[in-house]
Amino acid sequence: MTVAEVEDQVDQHAAMFTTTAHDTLAPRVFGTWWQAEGRLREATRLRAHQRLTVAAGSCAGPRHGSVPTGSCRRSATSTTLRPSPSPSPSPSPSPSRLDRRERPVTLIFGPPSPARQIPTVVTERLTLRDWRAEDIGPYSAMTQHPDMSRHTGGGPMDDEAVWRHAAFQLGHWALRGFGMWIVRERATGEFIGRAGLYEELGWPGVEVAWTVRQDRWGQGLAPEAGMAAVEFAFTHVGVERVISICHPDNIQSRRVMEKVGLTLDGEWSLHGRPSVVYAISRAEWDARTRG
Ligand SMILES: CC(C)(COP(=O)(O)OP(=O)(O)OC[C@H]1O[C@@H](n2cnc3c(N)ncnc32)[C@H](O)[C@@H]1OP(=O)(O)O)[C@@H](O)C(=O)NCCC(=O)NCCS
Repeated sequence: MTVAEVEDQVDQHAAMFTTTAHDTLAPRVFGTWWQAEGRLREATRLRAHQRLTVAAGSCAGPRHGSVPTGSCRRSATSTTLRPSPSPSPSPSPSPSRLDRRERPVTLIFGPPSPARQIPTVVTERLTLRDWRAEDIGPYSAMTQHPDMSRHTGGGPMDDEAVWRHAAFQLGHWALRGFGMWIVRERATGEFIGRAGLYEELGWPGVEVAWTVRQDRWGQGLAPEAGMAAVEFAFTHVGVERVISICHPDNIQSRRVMEKVGLTLDGEWSLHGRPSVVYAISRAEWDARTRG
């Protein structure tokens, strides 16, 4: 492939993503503008890579990873590659020394995956947002209190376990388009817990769930986050019914379900553990919040 062809190919990619970045349809097609900006940066990097590729193969340019001191330029009249003048040219490896494994890998990008973005939701006291590395420590600390897992069957999680859990929760968002948020307090920025929606395979419906760190219990934070999650389920996920599940002895969680407006719907076996299921229909939610 000539340099001109390589550059044309790269320019096409750059143009595609440049267009996307400024296209008013971009949010719908590719998510957010910064995603497109990211692709533009990738295309720019690809351009540099491509130049290195050609340089390595055609004019014995710098090895992959080194800074080109005598970069190759396209001649005005042909695609012949010439090293640009350099005051102190570095020794260039011969083409025979550049076996295939040392050559840059060319990445050609297609359109980004339409994986869904995680929206941030703000309530009176809380921010519900995506999972980030900075949440791992506080999340792990939350799980160390024995009361936290009294009714859930879990237990203390170290940072590695929380990291895997966060990846799992982010994967749930990607697969379902909804999921659990990290909950932080708006006034202080403090980590509070997690809340949101959940539906693994075989689940009896879209579940609203909550966990608040033990020293912040009794302040109505779980119901506040839970209300936002249920509103999101009806208005943005489009379900007709929201459920919530807990161990029958989990009085605190059952109280939260009642405060949010769910009523007892039946019993269920959650991974072999006895559970109660509460539920609220869209009509009941509308009557409660808009009636
Ligand atoms: C269930 C949970 C999220 C409730 O969060 P919260 O923000 O404290 O919710 P609320 O402030 O509305 O309190 C709910 C009930 O918990 C109980 N409660 C409140 N403070 C408490 C405390 N310090 N100790 C024990 N129970 C308490 C009360 O019964 C309260 O109901 P009330 O307001 O009618 O008295 C929280 O207890 C928790 O994270 N538990 C561990 C994880 C869990 O079980 N999650 C649910 C999985 S299904």
